[in-house]
Parts: sequence; structure tokens; C-alpha cells
Amino acid sequence: MLQGVKLLAFVVPALLCLSTAVLAAFIAKPDFTQGDAERGKQIYQRVGVCVNCHGWAADGESGTNPMVHVQGSNLRQTKLDAQGLYDVIRCGIPGTQMPYHDQTSYKDDRCNGLLMSDIAPDQQPVKGKTFREEQMVDLIAYLEKYVIGHGKPTYEECALYFESADKSCSYLKAN
Ligand code: HEC
Repeated sequence: MLQGVKLLAFVVPALLCLSTAVLAAFIAKPDFTQGDAERGKQIYQRVGVCVNCHGWAADGESGTNPMVHVQGSNLRQTKLDAQGLYDVIRCGIPGTQMPYHDQTSYKDDRCNGLLMSDIAPDQQPVKGKTFREEQMVDLIAYLEKYVIGHGKPTYEECALYFESADKSCSYLKAN
């Protein structure tokens, strides 16, 4: 009997720990199949203004105004999968201009276990707009559908992005 109680005293906390760990893993891994690419486009363009640095084509070259050069990296060529994109969007990239978009980042251990105070002041990432998880999932769906793995930006992509084949895309027509 006593042994049974002892066993219980060990098993119950162990199970509790396990379920917390499973829950934590579940929270850290959103369901990327639920993303809505069209809503994600709004976030890319207007809510998160990714376009300011990565450009309309997300190639890091074509600006909001297609003739203006921008500074973000070329997301068409990224090797990141959905989870990798999620982590970068949530945590930014310390030491670069890439902002973070989760207000809890660097306040707990969700970004590689780093707190803001662990990062040298001149390397600390800047905070962008705060996104809900659902918004990040939509944004990733947008990147996966319209950006990642696409080659050079085309006239058709430009017209689709701006929702009109207006003159801002005409520079691509000759190609
Ligand atoms: C203030 C400018 C700026 C803004 C705004 C910005 N980025 Fe970035 N982003 C960068 C820079 C610069 C890099 C490259 C950092 C480096 O040198 O590794 C980058 C890198 C990335 C990467 C990593 C690519 C890779 O393959 O490693 C992803 C993904 C990304 N950005 C997505 C986004 C998304 C999505 C948004 C909008 C929510 C966004 N960025 C907004 C500047 C920006």
C-alpha cells in the first residue's frame, strides 16, 4: 500500500510535467495549414509593412515604388520552412534591421532563450508591429504562395500585387 502511494507520488508529477511539455510544444508550433494567403498579403503590405524593407516582390530590390531600391533580404530565395519563418518573424534577427513582431519576445525564453538584456545594446532587434499568431500564420501562407521559390519578379506578379496593371509595373513589361 505504502509502495503504491509512493509510486503515485512519483507518477502524478511526472505525468503533469509531461503534459505541460506537450502543451508547450503545441503552443510553439502553430497549424500552418490554416493560413490565408490573401489576408497575409494585407499584413505584408499594410499591417506589418514588410514591403518597406523587402519590397513589393520580397526580393529585397524592388521597392514599394518599384524603381526604389530597398535593403531587406531576398525572401524569394529563403531556405526557411514555415517554422523557420515563424521564428524569424516572431524574434527578428538581432544585429540586423529585421524587427520582431511578438510583444513577449525577449521577455521570456521563446527566442532562443535570449532576454533583451542578454544582447549587446547595439545588436538589440527593433520591435515591429505586434502580430497575433493567426496573423503570422497568414503572413507565412502569403510568402509560401506568392514569394518563396519564385524567380525574378514578373509583370504579372507586379500587376497582381498592386491589383492593377498600372504604370508602376510597366518597367517589367520589356522583360
Ligand atoms: C526595417 C526593415 C525590415 C522590415 C520592416 C522587415 N524586414 Fe525582414 N529583414 C530585414 C533585413 C535587413 C533582413 C536580413 C537580415 C540579415 O542580414 O540576415 C531581413 C530578413 C528577413 C527574413 C530572413 C530571411 C532568411 O532567409 O534568412 C525573413 C523571413 C523576413 N525578413 C521576413 C520579414 C517579414 C515577413 C516582415 C514583415 C512582417 C519583415 N521581414 C519586415 C529587414 C526588414
